[in-house]
Amino acid sequence: MKILVVLLLLTLADGKSFERCEWARMLKAAAMDGYRGISLANWVCLTKWESQFNTQAINHNKDKSTDYGIFQINSRWWCDDGQTRSANGCNISCSDLLTDNISTAIRCAKRVVGDPQGIEAWVGWRVHCKNQDVSTYLSGCGL
Ligand SMILES: *[C@@H]1O[C@H](CO)[C@@H](O)[C@H](O)[C@H]1NC(C)=O
Ligand SMILES: *[C@@H]1O[C@H](CO)[C@@H](O)[C@H](O)[C@H]1NC(C)=O
Repeated sequence: MKILVVLLLLTLADGKSFERCEWARMLKAAAMDGYRGISLANWVCLTKWESQFNTQAINHNKDKSTDYGIFQINSRWWCDDGQTRSANGCNISCSDLLTDNISTAIRCAKRVVGDPQGIEAWVGWRVHCKNQDVSTYLSGCGL
């Protein structure tokens, strides 16, 4: 039990929930604004609904695959978690998507959106951001 608690604390210390504008600035610095034609506000909206800007977000899918990190990247296609048979399109371990160093997650998200399905791959984006006025996701950020 003690070990579990320590592991939990270590895990929490390793990840991070970003504040909206802080995250928007990081996306911008990573050249995500306009990447594949997708505006910064759309990226912020997507990650809000996928993970609440939480790098530690993990969600299990009905098909037994799992979605990891701030972009909720799927283990069947993009990363290897040792549990799902994976195409591992980003050639990474899924746990690399859960740290507060977001460079791996951003690189992988760029790959995902470069796929023919594009941004439509993200259900959170389709449901909450597609054809919506997403400008509010940047409001007050000075961006
Ligand atoms: C995948 O990553 C490993 C290192 O983690 C590297 O050795 C290998 O060449 C990479 N494969 C591809 C196809 O990029
Ligand atoms: C984040 O990770 C990348 C490689 O995965 C590394 O090059 C970079 O230095 C790291 N950044 C920080 C702030 O640790």
